[in-house]
Amino acid sequence: MSSYDVIVIGAGPGGYVAAIRCAQLGLKTAVVEGRETLGGTCLNVGCIPSKALLHASHMLHEAEHNFAEMGLKGKSPSVDWKQMLTYKQSTIDTNTKGIEFLFKKNKIDWLKGWGSVPEAGKVKVGEEVHEAKSIIIASGSEPSALPGVEVDEKVVVTSTGALTLNKVPKKLVVIGAGVIGLELGSVYARLGAEVTVVEFLDAITPGMDPEVQKTFQRTLKKQGMKFVMGAAVQKTEATKTKAKVHYKLRKDDSEHVLDADTVLVATGRKPYVEGLGLEALNVEMTKRGQIAVNGTWQTSVPGVYAIGDVIEGPMLAHKAEDEGMAVAEVIAGKHGHVNYGVIPGVIYTAPEVGSVGETEATLKEAGRAYKVGKFGFMGNARAKANFAGEGFVKILADKETDRILGAHIIGPAAGELIHEICVAMEFGASAQDLALTCHAHPTYSEAVREAALACGDGPIHM
Ligand code: FAD
Ligand code: NAI
Repeated sequence: MSSYDVIVIGAGPGGYVAAIRCAQLGLKTAVVEGRETLGGTCLNVGCIPSKALLHASHMLHEAEHNFAEMGLKGKSPSVDWKQMLTYKQSTIDTNTKGIEFLFKKNKIDWLKGWGSVPEAGKVKVGEEVHEAKSIIIASGSEPSALPGVEVDEKVVVTSTGALTLNKVPKKLVVIGAGVIGLELGSVYARLGAEVTVVEFLDAITPGMDPEVQKTFQRTLKKQGMKFVMGAAVQKTEATKTKAKVHYKLRKDDSEHVLDADTVLVATGRKPYVEGLGLEALNVEMTKRGQIAVNGTWQTSVPGVYAIGDVIEGPMLAHKAEDEGMAVAEVIAGKHGHVNYGVIPGVIYTAPEVGSVGETEATLKEAGRAYKVGKFGFMGNARAKANFAGEGFVKILADKETDRILGAHIIGPAAGELIHEICVAMEFGASAQDLALTCHAHPTYSEAVREAALACGDGPIHM
């Protein structure tokens, strides 16, 4: 038996970041991880592999659609899928090995295996029981099941199977127009698949700014993706190589069937708590199956904390990381803090989508007076030169104080641009503060400044 100040269960972005910060703060730390490699969902089967495939397929799209116009002549590259998967895997490997290096550097022990918590202060891994003054559960999430849809990870797949298909399907049906469905749907559409997205609601990416939703859907349609909206999937029928997707349109209950070579089920994820022994430990759970925590990420059992996808809040790697750093500070007797009002969300399609803070819907619901400053990328010189004039930046600011309350961007590098607004929001900046800040020309970020100007006397280039 070994004794630690902190044992973390799960080495995803929540767990590994918590462990590193604990070690930096002088706490003797170990991490239990059952996977063969560190990094959790994000590095192994989530953020990183999906972004590698998005990058490669975007390059192909650029070559096929924009090279000739720039005077770059010649045959477009053909897809070597096996090599693309090798590139994806090597991206995963460098990242997961990087975490192993960081563990060694920070003297963090990796307890290999699946862990459980038989009692507060104890973590069992295999037959061994280790002692810990504090335990952090960071066990992450798994895909939600859909009644009538049996996943075999070959023909009917979750995101995990979709990242390792043995070939690019001719026909891909995606169930769910959320982040996973649209990112991975984009990958396969760019690689030549006929992609149909079946969505239960009437708009894609629920909760997002409605203007962004509309522009986003229109752009994806132009890129060749088809959408069936307001459709409830009833069941799938699969053979070894094909599947049928049965759905009912909500507006008239009419029944329809789609044929597919591959079906991607992307209808959300749920907390993963299997085998942790939480019931016996009497850990309080929320109605949605998450581990309930207080403002300092403590569960109902003293000394046991939880962070990341397994607790409430957006299922995002950077949210888990922020909680990881903050809970480490709390355990070390400091003041850990996460500003849940300023957690950006990014969709890594082309164009990208980035959003932070309030939406017009949440502001209306709260009865708050606000103003909107909007600027289209068509007025941005850099975007026009780079065939990226579609989309806009929209800033929402308090009507009286001009304080920035939120922002929604669809366009080139939206996932980078959004952080300028996050920093401004953290500092309590007004739209005028942004508008008065010199922005280099020609950059995409000038569109952010112009949107800030649009909250005041007006943009210059529109
Ligand atoms: P996880 O990353 O899920 O890690 C939990 C770890 O705990 C796992 O490795 C698991 O094996 C381990 N574990 C669980 N139980 C035990 C146990 N009992 N004993 C030992 N080990 C255990 N988010 C973004 O912010 N940006 C993105 O671009 C993005 N892309 C995504 C793409 C896809 C396809 C998917 C599926 C998700 C994506 N996400 C993205 C979401 C992101 O992956 C998660 O929000 C993030 O990984 C959550 O981190 P976590 O540490 O809470 O849990
Ligand atoms: P999601 O919650 O984003 O989207 C699920 C979609 O499926 C919704 O639009 C929903 O209305 C629809 N749906 C649900 N049931 C349905 C049914 N029966 N028929 C048709 N449609 C149905 O979930 P998703 O895409 O699975 O992603 C899970 C999580 O992973 C997200 O919460 C996200 O935070 C995270 N993620 C983040 C990424 C990023 O930050 N870029 C990338 C990928 C995932």
